[in-house]
Amino acid sequence: MKSCIAKESEQRIIETAWEARKLSYVPYSGFAVGAGLLAGNGRIFSGCNVENASFGATNCAERTAIFKAVSEGCREFQAIAVAGGRAGEAPDDFCPPCGICLQVMTEFCPPEFPVYLVKSKDEVKRMELKELLPMSFENLKK
Ligand code: THU
Repeated sequence: MKSCIAKESEQRIIETAWEARKLSYVPYSGFAVGAGLLAGNGRIFSGCNVENASFGATNCAERTAIFKAVSEGCREFQAIAVAGGRAGEAPDDFCPPCGICLQVMTEFCPPEFPVYLVKSKDEVKRMELKELLPMSFENLKK
């Protein structure tokens, strides 16, 4: 089943991702990513990537948004938008979430969860979590 969100919410998470990119802390990669996450209750959470001198401590934009939401009591999500590219420039391509972020989405979201990849305000690709991570690991004991 294709899950749909209102056009207005779609626009709001795209705008949130676009704006959140500007807050990325990326002194090592110079690659800025922003995310806009629509929670089940209609709240919108932003996220940006936050890098660290110890590279493995870096947090991606999508996980920043999801962890912010979960830490504020939201565990149900309707959609996420992601925009990424060289810092200070418009993205030159779509930026799909990394495997770790997809795995974190799998923890909270259904396979049909919509992921909007934002290249520009007019170029947005709607995908579903199951297309981006077709065989995800799930703990059956959950
Ligand atoms: N990055 C994200 O924020 N989200 C992703 O899904 C892919 C990668 C960040 C991590 C790092 O700060 C930079 O992009 C380059 O890998």
